[in-house]
Amino acid sequence: MTALSSSFRGTVGFSNRITKLFGIDYPIIQAGMIWASGWKLASAVSNAGGLGIIGSGSMYPDVLREHIRKCKAATILPFGVNVPLLYPAFDKHIDIIIEEGVKIVFTSAGNPKTWTSVLKEKGITVVHVISSSKFAKKSEEAGCDAVVAEGFEAGGHNGREETTTMVLIPAVVEAVKIPVIAAGGIANGRQMLAAMVMGAEGVQLGSRFVASEEASSHINFKNEVINSKEGDTKLAMKELTPVRLLKNDFFKEVDEAEKEEQR
Ligand SMILES: Cc1cc2nc3c(=O)[nH]c(=O)nc-3n(C[C@H](O)[C@H](O)[C@H](O)COP(=O)(O)O)c2cc1C
Repeated sequence: MTALSSSFRGTVGFSNRITKLFGIDYPIIQAGMIWASGWKLASAVSNAGGLGIIGSGSMYPDVLREHIRKCKAATILPFGVNVPLLYPAFDKHIDIIIEEGVKIVFTSAGNPKTWTSVLKEKGITVVHVISSSKFAKKSEEAGCDAVVAEGFEAGGHNGREETTTMVLIPAVVEAVKIPVIAAGGIANGRQMLAAMVMGAEGVQLGSRFVASEEASSHINFKNEVINSKEGDTKLAMKELTPVRLLKNDFFKEVDEAEKEEQR
């Protein structure tokens, strides 16, 4: 990723509520991703003018601390940490985030009411990931500074509503006054423009960044993502916790196990 020279920083001419909220040049957010987005990816994205995010979900607490420290050493620019509120160590993660002085937190997979005020009291900017207008409103009421509206196309865990990005973004933009970041199926400039036309003020990209050099994902996984075509993923585990998977042998095993469970 190419870093902007410091003399150009802040002068690229694009400014909206999202660039101002995070202090970034481009309203492009690299999604926090379990196993894939450590300090290398987060700092590279921040150094290139977007917002890099460390995905804490797969990390032991001391590993998260190490990644935050390495990220601080690798960039002087803003970066964030994603905390999925469903993993066992998330409260320890929040303690570390506060201790290490992280300024931006993206929470996901949980209730925004519980943790937003705790983080806000420490002066942290809080963004919550939602997949419906109802939870966008709840996030706004909880005091979140912005929401990520993540549609059905998204990689990783998915909302139960199965609302597509095309339908979700305008609905969420209507429902709340805080800025909306669009996610799910966005991987290039044309898709980003479409999201902005629908009222989003920023975009969060996961699958596009998971295949980049700086991501800590395995090279075989990166190649699978790069070589996958339209129709090569499917939503699995709909009853338990919906997740988008590549249609490979592992998917077949999961699919079989689900069918067996339903018999
Ligand atoms: C491999 C992978 C891991 C992910 N892990 C997380 C995670 O730990 N926390 C989270 O909030 N979202 C996670 N996501 C979802 C992303 O944050 C993002 O919203 C989503 O990837 C956007 O859709 P896209 O993949 O079409 O760009 C993950 C996505 C992928 C592809």
